[in-house]
Amino acid sequence: MSRVGLFYGPELGSVGKVARLIESKLGTDKVELIPVKNYEASELNRFDKLIFGVSTIGKTNWDSEHKDTDWDNFLTGFGDINWSGKKVAMYGLGDHVQYPQHFVDALGWLYDRLEKTEAEVVGFCPVEGYTYEESEGVRDGQFLGLPVDEDNEADKTDVRVSNWISRLVNEFGY
Ligand SMILES: Cc1cc2nc3c(=O)[nH]c(=O)nc-3n(C[C@H](O)[C@H](O)[C@H](O)COP(=O)(O)O)c2cc1C
Repeated sequence: MSRVGLFYGPELGSVGKVARLIESKLGTDKVELIPVKNYEASELNRFDKLIFGVSTIGKTNWDSEHKDTDWDNFLTGFGDINWSGKKVAMYGLGDHVQYPQHFVDALGWLYDRLEKTEAEVVGFCPVEGYTYEESEGVRDGQFLGLPVDEDNEADKTDVRVSNWISRLVNEFGY
């Protein structure tokens, strides 16, 4: 069974916390944690099962000339990867109270990048159980990855991650 590459950023804070939670639930022998800030996209070539962890900190920080998220440099290498046969699942940190109209938007922004590749995106999540008004992370009535709100619903994170992983292992073909 090949290991899962869990690429995440920012390294510290809630995205990192959930990365370590996923690692503990999948099993440390089954997943490798890779903070994107310290790596080039070519690191993706070592894996065919991938998890990407992001947070939403405003669209200008994500895809403008500002270039100040951990993902900026990493994303520039996406075009050089052979995505064929790769499965990618995403989780996204957000705050549904402060940003109800942009809840976990980064799931959508990352999905838009992946849609241009041959990667198969897996790990979609039902919207039931989440409160929000609008989200670019929702397409066709479901979240494109697992939303996590550590700011307001930290008590729900453990169950949300567990439920998502139990579906994900099937989609990854474990
Ligand atoms: C400046 C700023 C902008 C944010 N914008 C959004 C947003 O548009 N949508 C959202 O769901 N959360 C937003 N958040 C909340 C963060 O995504 C959330 O706090 C997340 O847990 C941060 O994780 P991190 O510390 O690992 O980056 C924002 C937070 C900050 C500080």
